[in-house]
Amino acid sequence: MVAALRRAFGYLRPHRGNVIAALVAVLVVTVANLLAPQLIRIVIDSGIATRDGQVIALAVAGMFGLALLRGGGSFVQGFYAERGSQGVALDLRDEFFVKVEQLGFAFHDRTPTGQLLTRATSDIEQVRFVTGNGFVNIVWAIVQIVAIVILLFVVNWQLALITFVSILIIFGLLGRFGTSIAPLFTRIQAALGQLNSTLQEDLVGLRTIRAFRGEERERARYRGHNATMFDLNIQIVSLFSTNFRAIFLVAGLASLAVVYAGGQQVIGGDLQVGELVAFYTYLNFLLGPILTLGFLGSAVPRAGASAVRIFAVLDEPVTITDRPDAVPLPPVEGRVQFDDVSFRYPEANHDALHGVSFTAEPGQTVAIIGTTGSGKSTLVNLIPRFHDPAEGTVRIDGYDVRDVTLESLRGQIAPVLQESRLFSGTVRDNIAYGRPDATMGEIQAAAAAAQAAPFIEAMADGYETIIGERGVGLSGGQRQRVAIARALLADRAILILDDSTSAVDATTEAEIRIAIDRLLAERRQTTFVIAQRVSTVRSADVILVMDAGRIVAQGTHEHLLAHSDLYVSILGSQLGTETAFAPDESTVDEIAEESVATNGTGNGTGNGVASGSRLAPAAVAAATNGRTQR
Ligand SMILES: Nc1ncnc2c1ncn2[C@@H]1O[C@H](COP(=O)(O)OP(=O)(O)OP(=O)(O)O)[C@@H](O)[C@H]1O
Ligand SMILES: [Mg+2]
Repeated sequence: MVAALRRAFGYLRPHRGNVIAALVAVLVVTVANLLAPQLIRIVIDSGIATRDGQVIALAVAGMFGLALLRGGGSFVQGFYAERGSQGVALDLRDEFFVKVEQLGFAFHDRTPTGQLLTRATSDIEQVRFVTGNGFVNIVWAIVQIVAIVILLFVVNWQLALITFVSILIIFGLLGRFGTSIAPLFTRIQAALGQLNSTLQEDLVGLRTIRAFRGEERERARYRGHNATMFDLNIQIVSLFSTNFRAIFLVAGLASLAVVYAGGQQVIGGDLQVGELVAFYTYLNFLLGPILTLGFLGSAVPRAGASAVRIFAVLDEPVTITDRPDAVPLPPVEGRVQFDDVSFRYPEANHDALHGVSFTAEPGQTVAIIGTTGSGKSTLVNLIPRFHDPAEGTVRIDGYDVRDVTLESLRGQIAPVLQESRLFSGTVRDNIAYGRPDATMGEIQAAAAAAQAAPFIEAMADGYETIIGERGVGLSGGQRQRVAIARALLADRAILILDDSTSAVDATTEAEIRIAIDRLLAERRQTTFVIAQRVSTVRSADVILVMDAGRIVAQGTHEHLLAHSDLYVSILGSQLGTETAFAPDESTVDEIAEESVATNGTGNGTGNGVASGSRLAPAAVAAATNGRTQR
């Protein structure tokens, strides 16, 4: 914790000008403070006692000047201390944000978002306070106390001794207070993190909560954390009040003792009245810095606890990063090779991918099909290096993806992820996210290709409609299509469509399907498409069938129909559907015709390549037209 604090103070270095200005002001304020009682002494002992009006006037003028000095000094002290610490907060927030952006998905998967938000806000705020005003006030308090104690000894050592002993007692009390309060602050920041995580999860999952009537449960969970916060804060408050009551008591007794002993000395002629008043004034000056130290004595451990939490994130190793000798990946044709690739999520007990090998030639469409959890998303996520394989290599045009810079690698891959996110902003900005300089014409073309144009144009502000947090809501299917348009506009050599239509209704699903299938027919990019639809997969050049992290079969649709039981069983119900309905009414056929019409490579209706399949000939015929003859 001490090391973390020291490191936090290191962030003051670039802003040290401010701190120096504030510290100089501290000296000015201290001198002004200490001179004032001397002038009071002069008024009493040299002015009033000798009935010299001029001395009184001069002393009062001096006090006025000191008050001005003190006011100006306090302003400079407060302003520059604050400025320095705002600089610390600025730098810490920047660094934190960049770090959180860099950290891999492995980190984010295990770190609740609310914890990160708390660290980026509340924890940085604690550190900010202590490195600025906190620090300068500590210096101020120490300088005041030391200077006043010295002065007291100069004025009257017997009275000073009484004061000194009481100060030692007070510091003893403060020390005990600090050690008992520090762990509470660590717990408070952790509890705040949990509170925020709960809030954040609930906000994101509000629909699910309502749908499953989880409000009571969530409320209880939130109240639990909230009550913890309350209890911890109450513990702190009670520590504060009991300790400070003791401190005030000691300080009160000390000043009573000073008045008693000082009064005796004045009567005995050893001390002048003005000196006693000055002494007493200094004594009262002491209480302020002592209380400041007491208060800050708790802020420092609190900031220490926060600093530990901040640096824990800042020190988190970035596992996915450019190698020192990384080269930029030149513009690629789009050959993607997996060579015996295995991958396991941290803390998982089995491989998510195991011994995966395949090659996608430039311009090919690779369909990935498999049961849920079989590793399809994981596989495509290794291409833009969202994760690195544990074994084996992923190559693009012969380059190991770990040997090239992330920027040049990701700059050539456009993904539509399973959970695509849109950002607050206009539809246009969202589509142009991967290519902010795209023209309106290009944006419209991408939207049209993604079947998004009709609904965008139907909105009041068209492409300028604000969507996301504060804007109009989009349906799941609309969002998906905007995400597809975004990937298309980016126009990268490798396109990844991790299609999740399970969450949308049948009509929307049909629309997305049309968009994707039409698109696949037109693309010359190497395209990975994860889909469970016969219309999509049958036109792919290569189909990978996945099960439990392995590719259990690969080949064309006909090949797999004949050779992969899993393939047939995954598509089974769809193949069955086609036999059940008249072919010209099935959606599958409509899609097939569309794709034939656009790419012109199909040969019309079914050609029955897969004769000998275990399926009814009609189903095979319906399922195998499209692009299979390429
Ligand atoms: N972030 C993660 N941390 C740990 N394990 C994960 C993570 N993501 C996925 N897994 C596990 O890895 C395996 C493969 O997951 P993956 O998401 O690749 O499946 P999928 O084939 O895309 O499934 P779906 O069809 O449901 O999208 C699963 O067993 C899953 O539980
Ligand atoms: Mg998936």
